[in-house]
Amino acid sequence: MGFNLAISKKQIALLTNDATKAADLILDHIKKGDSIHVHSHVDADGLSAAGIMGKALLRAGARFRLRLERWMDEKVADRIAAEKVPLTIFTDMGSGYLDLLGERLAGRSVIILDHHTPAAESPASFVQVNPHIHEIDGTRDISGSGVAYFAAKAMDKNNVDLACLGIVGALGDLQDKNKERKLGKVNQTIVEDAVKSGYLEVETDLLFFGRETRPIHQALARTTNPFIPEISGEEDKSLAFLVNLGIKPKRNDKWRALRDLSSEEKKRLLSAIADHLVSKGMAGDTAFELVGEVYTLTKEEPWTPLRSAREFSVLLNATGRMDKAGLGVAICMGDRKKCLEEATAVIQDYRATITKYLRWVTEKKGRLEELESIYVVRGDGFLDEKVISPVCTILSTTLTQLGKPIIAYATISGEDQVKVSSRGSEALIQKGLNLGEIMQSASEKFLGRGGGHDVAAGAQIPIKDVEAFIKTVNDLVKKQLEGEQSGS
Ligand code: C5P
Ligand code: ZN
Repeated sequence: MGFNLAISKKQIALLTNDATKAADLILDHIKKGDSIHVHSHVDADGLSAAGIMGKALLRAGARFRLRLERWMDEKVADRIAAEKVPLTIFTDMGSGYLDLLGERLAGRSVIILDHHTPAAESPASFVQVNPHIHEIDGTRDISGSGVAYFAAKAMDKNNVDLACLGIVGALGDLQDKNKERKLGKVNQTIVEDAVKSGYLEVETDLLFFGRETRPIHQALARTTNPFIPEISGEEDKSLAFLVNLGIKPKRNDKWRALRDLSSEEKKRLLSAIADHLVSKGMAGDTAFELVGEVYTLTKEEPWTPLRSAREFSVLLNATGRMDKAGLGVAICMGDRKKCLEEATAVIQDYRATITKYLRWVTEKKGRLEELESIYVVRGDGFLDEKVISPVCTILSTTLTQLGKPIIAYATISGEDQVKVSSRGSEALIQKGLNLGEIMQSASEKFLGRGGGHDVAAGAQIPIKDVEAFIKTVNDLVKKQLEGEQSGS
């Protein structure tokens, strides 16, 4: 994959060095009383990154404004260029669009704190902090919020309490999608910061959501990564599943939580889920994705979704996707009570929306179309473009064992464009798949914009070109996967 397997201290020192340059520039501008604009991506990683930078700027006494962007394109770049502020900071976005930003913002003071593959050289007036520059894998080893955390820590050591948000962001970007379901490499250094300073505890256990706080069947139903057909999103069926297994959902009239299960019951549950997955045509070892590192935020209230870093990231994702991104950032910056209540309602709404769309895709044959080298979900007319990304992620956890990446799209309301999401699997990446490259080159062919990571990427393209775009993507995937076969 072009990255060193082991990350050396030197690589981390180089990244820290870049982060220090960014921090010094930020502090200089603050000293001068300059106004600073921060633009961040609207997903869980982007919101965590915005929360980290927002909090660090607030503590340093900066005059700043945060703005969340759904994506970058000419329109957005023009709007940002017209703002003409003394310092513009991008978090969890920017590197993938360096060509565009270079054209619009060259000569200006710009900081990019990102983990997407840099698309072009960075202009001299930009400070870019990005793991790829030091051959660190930005898809797996550190996220956008992790990079923002490096910069915040370089601004002030006391920002170490923001390490947890770097972990929440990395989990939001699925950087634990390995066999151990564990954050590693540079992310591990962030985990260590959080543990050492008493903000985080890490243990290995079942990863169902609400492990300590929810009745078991609810915890099962809330888990969508991996997606378990007929259990994810389905509380009644989850309850029946437990009862069938002879696992008592209640003790003395009180619901039991996962932490109340004996280790024998946990084993029984896991092996039954593995059998269930096999019966649904999925690989049984998918069940092992349900065991991994549990990251507990020790300073958060035990009965809230913020207590678990994975649930925190789902909460942020929900706010971002349901047009409540400001709420997500407010929570990252420390707002609780009312904000948290509101976010809890947003998550319910988000879960219901996703369950509805997943049902739509799976209830009728042909809605998930199989082409020669890809699966396609044509969501125009039904799927909401705002949740196309999580729907695509969830479908990919059930499908990628079948050996093809999945591409989903939906129309963007009020525009003659569609939003495309694509997801692959580790096995496909090993065979040479790089969806970021494919989304970029296929969308450029149709005057759209696209990019992202090897395993997860997206694009916006004109509606009229969808058919030709899908065909191009299918051909490019085929080429990449065949290239590897003939090359080996
Ligand atoms: O939107 P979606 O979640 O499918 O995007 C997957 C990844 O691709 C994200 O990291 C996102 O930043 C990136 N992306 C991109 N350019 C786009 C759309 C998505 O770089 N036009
Ligand atoms: Zn990210």
